[in-house]
Order: sequence, then structure tokens, then C-alpha cells
Amino acid sequence: MKWITLAQLTFLPALAQCATGSDEVQVGYHVIFSYPGLKPPSHLLELIEQGKVGGIILFGENIDDNIADVVQNFQDTYTKSPAYGGHPLLIMTDQEGGQVNRLPGGPELSAKEIGNSSDPNGAATQAGKKAGDILSSAHVNSNLAPVLGVYRQAGHFLDQYGRSFGDNVDLVSKCATTWFTAQKSTGVVAAAKHYPGLGLAGAEENTDIRPVTINAPLSTLRNVDEAPYHEAISSGIDMVMASWAVYPSMDPKNPAGLSSAWIQEELRGRLQFKGVTVTDAIEAGALEDFGNDENRGLLATQAGMDLILASGRNVTQGEVIVDKLVASLDDGSVSRESFDAATDRILDLRKKVQA
Ligand SMILES: *[C@@H]1O[C@H](CO)[C@@H](O)[C@H](O)[C@H]1NC(C)=O
Ligand SMILES: *[C@@H]1O[C@H](CO)[C@@H](O)[C@H](O)[C@H]1NC(C)=O
Repeated sequence: MKWITLAQLTFLPALAQCATGSDEVQVGYHVIFSYPGLKPPSHLLELIEQGKVGGIILFGENIDDNIADVVQNFQDTYTKSPAYGGHPLLIMTDQEGGQVNRLPGGPELSAKEIGNSSDPNGAATQAGKKAGDILSSAHVNSNLAPVLGVYRQAGHFLDQYGRSFGDNVDLVSKCATTWFTAQKSTGVVAAAKHYPGLGLAGAEENTDIRPVTINAPLSTLRNVDEAPYHEAISSGIDMVMASWAVYPSMDPKNPAGLSSAWIQEELRGRLQFKGVTVTDAIEAGALEDFGNDENRGLLATQAGMDLILASGRNVTQGEVIVDKLVASLDDGSVSRESFDAATDRILDLRKKVQA
């Protein structure tokens, strides 16, 4: 009988981290799943064990006092998967503060209240730390916040729930960067959203529900909407979530998250973002003209999005996207080279988060 040596054992996880696993495992890193209700479906746990799941996004309907145990069970199951390389699943939620908190307990102040407080910097520090404490106590390691949008008019889409820190670039840049830096000290990584910005979206212009077009000159988008991303990127923001709005001054056809002009030329090229890109909800109404969920997942991947958010509370949705991307790698409609580069970014991110 031949015993495996300790050196071989410690080498095994490193192997799984390289871009050498099966395509299913490779693709699994890229897809974030969701599920309905409090009890995770057994099929989700099976897929986690097979390595077809890269992470899970949690919504209010998934949360009760047991959430920390539920998440721990995901991570424990994942350690048995061929995808596990010593680094955990990404467990995400939206904990923006104010009225947009998926877990109870705060931050109580909305972005708007922070921006309008007597000490925005102090308030942003407190809120970022609070969000991180609440999430990490539930083993949630990634927050789809803060919002970097610069709102233009009271009552506009981002302002109606106080989701924008303010109506000027400096204030938004400082508050957002302070917020996610404080959150990072708790071990929870952040996603700046919704790139290049939803500050011009009117009250009814909700990309979750319908297509939204933001007609503004590129100079405005760069000087106002995109401006907070400079500071966030130079301060080490780990993820950027793309908007599903169409911005015709850059790309007349595709929403930003399906647009290689926005993602590759502008965000990675001009703004020099090196971290992980994540889509908004793949089932969003804004994408009604872009086919079914798996087709949207393919288009987003081709545009340069690293993580696909299958957030429809439907395990099958994530599964069909994984299968589509496996087939697309196989038939060459997704470039293996850029997909591998995205996998490396995702695995680098996972090294920074806690189980
Ligand atoms: C900030 O709050 C004060 C007091 O409630 C209010 O008068 C003011 O309009 C607010 N400013 C902004 C920019 O929201
Ligand atoms: C779940 O997702 C699959 C694949 O996108 C879809 O066919 C199905 O209709 C969805 N089910 C529900 C209940 O939304």
C-alpha cells in the first residue's frame, strides 16, 4: 500500500486552484446561484458538492436566525467538491444601509443620510464597519454595495430610497471609498455599483423591471457618473457591478453589462480596473430583448463579465447558465484565454474572503 505524503496532500488544493479542472468546475467559479425560501433545496447542495456553484446571493426571503448555520453548511459541503481549493464560496447580499438591508440590524443610516450628516466621513466609516460586522457574523463574505451613483434630482431612481450619497462627485467618492474601506477591515469585500452609474435614471427607470436608456454625453458620464470609480479603484475596490442601462454615447445597443466597449475598453482599459466584474440580476426586465437567462449569461461573459448573478431564486437558472458556458467554451464562442483570466481574478478574490 502506498501512503500519500503530507507534501502531496498540501499540494492537492493548489492543483484544484489552477486553471486545469474540468470545464464544469472552471465555469462553476463564475456563476452565483440563488434559491427560494428559508430551506436550501437539496439540488443546490448537490451542485455545490459537484463544484458547479461559485457562490450564492442571499435575499430577505432566505434570512432567519439560522442563516449563519445555513451558510456554514454551504461552505462545509463545498469542501467536498472538486472545485474547492482551500478558498470559500462567495456568499453575497445587498446590505446598502437605510431601507436596503437584507439582514436585520443595520446600517441604519442610508447613503443619503450619511452624505448629508454633519460628519459624512465618520458616518460612512461607522456604516461600512457595521455592514461588515453584520454580514461576517452570518458568514456572508461579499457585499453588493456601496452605490457609487451621483443622483441628479430629488426623487430620482437612486434618491427615492436614499441610495445615493449625494449629488456631487467629491462627496460620493469620499463616502463610498470610506464606507467600503471600513467594511473591508471586517473581512467582507465590496462591489461598487452600478457602473457607469444610475444617477441620471428617473424614478420609474428601474432596470430590474424594464429597459432603461440613459442619454447623456460621454463627457458627462465620464466627469460625473464615472468619476467616483477613479477613487474607488485606486483605493482597491474588489468588485464592480455593471448597470443594465443602455448608454448610447458609448454603445447604442447593449446595456453596460453586455457591452465590451464599457467593460473592456472603458472600465478595464481607461479606468484600469483589475478586479472582478459582476453582473446585476441576469433575469432583469432590462434584458428582455437579449434572450433567455443562459443566452444573457453568454452575452455577459463575452462582454467581459466575470461573475454572473443568477438571482431569480431558482437553482435551475444558475444550472442552465453553467451548462451554456461549458458548451460555449467547448464550441469556441467563449475565448478560453479570457475566461481563464477571469477565473484567475475570481480565485484571487476568494483568497481575500473568509468562510
Ligand atoms: C440635508 O438635510 C437637511 C435637514 O434635513 C435638509 O434641509 C437638506 O435639504 C438636506 N440636504 C441634502 C443635500 O439632502
Ligand atoms: C427557473 O429557471 C429556468 C431556467 O432559466 C426557467 O426555465 C424556469 O422557468 C425558472 N422557474 C421559475 C419558477 O422561475
